[in-house]
Amino acid sequence: MHYTTLGKTGLRVSVAGLGTGGFSRMGLKSGKTEDEAARLVLDAVDLGINFIDTAPPYGTEGVVGKALKSIPRDQVVVATKSTVRRNGEWWTPERVTASLDNSLRLLGTDYVDVFNLHAVDPDMYDYARDTLGPALVAQKDKGKIRHIGLTENPIVDFTNETLKRALHDPVWEVFMVGFHMMHQGARANVFPATREKGIGTLLMFAVRSIFADPPRVAREMKELAAKGLVEQWLGETDDPLGFLVHEGGATNMIDAAYRFVRHEPGVDVVLFGTGDAEHLRTNVASLLKPPLPEPDRAKLAALFGHLTGIGLDSHQGR
Ligand SMILES: NC(=O)c1ccc[n+]([C@@H]2O[C@H](COP(=O)([O-])OP(=O)(O)OC[C@H]3O[C@@H](n4cnc5c(N)ncnc54)[C@H](OP(=O)(O)O)[C@@H]3O)[C@@H](O)[C@H]2O)c1
Repeated sequence: MHYTTLGKTGLRVSVAGLGTGGFSRMGLKSGKTEDEAARLVLDAVDLGINFIDTAPPYGTEGVVGKALKSIPRDQVVVATKSTVRRNGEWWTPERVTASLDNSLRLLGTDYVDVFNLHAVDPDMYDYARDTLGPALVAQKDKGKIRHIGLTENPIVDFTNETLKRALHDPVWEVFMVGFHMMHQGARANVFPATREKGIGTLLMFAVRSIFADPPRVAREMKELAAKGLVEQWLGETDDPLGFLVHEGGATNMIDAAYRFVRHEPGVDVVLFGTGDAEHLRTNVASLLKPPLPEPDRAKLAALFGHLTGIGLDSHQGR
């Protein structure tokens, strides 16, 4: 495993981070038991992963808690989250604190390393900062939170508007950012400033569902080519990203997707979710490989760098 420092938090973290939400929720969504999911967390730790991301809506805090029973607490960096608004209802500071306390109970720990406000839409930002921010600082003072973070919601915020604002407010020590081969806005919008200010970054959406589904990529390209948003040839092939797969290049589209984000300057931890032990191993292997060849990386930037809103799928629980 390779390790890096998560911005000014000073935490030493693996460059591969285990996401326990996403479409797989550690396999719980496809029928795995909590014990099987907890085994997968331990497999990840055996591979050197020490960053684990969870959240109440994922239903995986208990799974992480089970795994934590057999890992010395100081060997892992645990991140969880609180909702800010759901179904039109704004969460009060008291409710956020109660959510934190419940997370600590499920995780079986008395502190979380990073506590994030979850999927903060641009119109939620003022409330998150002004009403919830002080409550998070109070919990940090009590030692229940080590560092305070914010996750954007790429599903509605294609251009990183929340994080662009949050860059100016020192309460946030960590950001979770969406970025992938066809959603590259953070290169200009976020990473230069996070690097300058020492804000740690957690990368989400590297694969999501689009890059695990080659026919879907071809369909998206046909639609975008028809609208004149990408070069015509990309809409005329069943394998628009085939140019990435060659000797000395990527082995497949998922390998390309992880290597593309991993080596983007400003990215600290690449989160990925899986319910499959083999995917866990191959994803870690991809994240430890060298960058894509520079001509391929440059071609991805030139072909897709201008796109917004591609492959940012929603699903319940995010
Ligand atoms: N706003 C937020 O706070 C927010 C939003 C989204 C995500 N997140 C965090 O980020 C983490 C990552 O989420 P994500 O949105 O990037 O999606 P993801 O959960 O990483 O999705 C990857 C998808 O691709 C599949 N996959 C993974 N590796 C594969 C492989 N080697 N071959 C074939 N299929 C593969 C997975 O299914 P398999 O089970 O079959 O492997 C999964 O369905 C989440 O778990 C969560 O912790 C946070």
